[in-house]
Amino acid sequence: MKPETLLTIFELRAKDKSALELLDAALPTELFGPTCAKSLRGLHFEADFAFLFFDAPVDLEQFLKTYPIFELRQIHTLRYDQWQDGAGSPPIDLGELRIVPSFDSKQLSQEKKQALSLPPTIFIDPGLAFGYGGHPTTKTCLEFLISIYKPKYLGSKKPATSLDLGCGTGVLALAAAKLGAKRVLGVDHSHLAVEAARKNLTYNRLAHKVTIERGLAQNYARRPSEVVLANIPLFVLSDLVSLGAFDERSHLIVSGLLPDEGDVFLKALMERNSYEIIDAVRTDRWISYWLKMSSA
Ligand SMILES: C[S@@+](CC[C@H](N)C(=O)[O-])C[C@H]1O[C@@H](n2cnc3c(N)ncnc32)[C@H](O)[C@@H]1O
Repeated sequence: MKPETLLTIFELRAKDKSALELLDAALPTELFGPTCAKSLRGLHFEADFAFLFFDAPVDLEQFLKTYPIFELRQIHTLRYDQWQDGAGSPPIDLGELRIVPSFDSKQLSQEKKQALSLPPTIFIDPGLAFGYGGHPTTKTCLEFLISIYKPKYLGSKKPATSLDLGCGTGVLALAAAKLGAKRVLGVDHSHLAVEAARKNLTYNRLAHKVTIERGLAQNYARRPSEVVLANIPLFVLSDLVSLGAFDERSHLIVSGLLPDEGDVFLKALMERNSYEIIDAVRTDRWISYWLKMSSA
């Protein structure tokens, strides 16, 4: 999407659960009519709220009359570069890996052609989702991931599997695949994230290694994987600890925590498991951890 694209975001409260299911299942043309549907760029659900993103001014009066199960709370208008803070950022060079954020598919194809001689490169079009690569939490996770695949930390073999809980645009999942994982699963509950991540799989031709599923991270807690990546809020991490998401993993990369939240997370984690903290990096207001199973 171009930085100057003006987004119109409808914030709707669903008066009952069936309302969100309807948005999830029905075709946009049936719900909004062909003109509005053409401008619909994505949906995001948060508790009993739905956010509908359009890339043009639209009128949803008819939709709201037909479906009184929705209450219009607010209409937000803002430019894409305000929504996606960092839109238009230059490539992120991390030595062994390069992330090229792109906010426009045409620009992406140009950059792809030019990138043949560069270090392994990942192209990320974030769409409306979180994670073009430049956020301090994402960047630190990427740096940890690169380190995991460095010979000095590899131990006997490269981790072949990675689970990315709260994958956003898929940037970490794709990086894991690019660095050496053979099978990666990325999970996010957001439609916007899953849509962006699946597109990014295609841009990067990594669909044979990476799968993206929509769902709650909590429902994937027990999926087998050597490496778990989780750049996700503390309340989700706490659920994940108690569900055993971090039991018996070779490496954990955890971020999205404020420093005092980091202490809470580590305490809960270490009560169940024995991990060694290989690195803890504080950037801006965030703390991120790379942990290794003590026996791994
Ligand atoms: C901080 S972003 C991280 C995105 C990406 N992994 C990165 O590092 O840039 C957190 C992501 O977790 C997702 N998320 C939050 N709670 C979740 C849950 N309970 N289950 C699945 N995804 C969740 C959000 O939709 C968002 O895409």
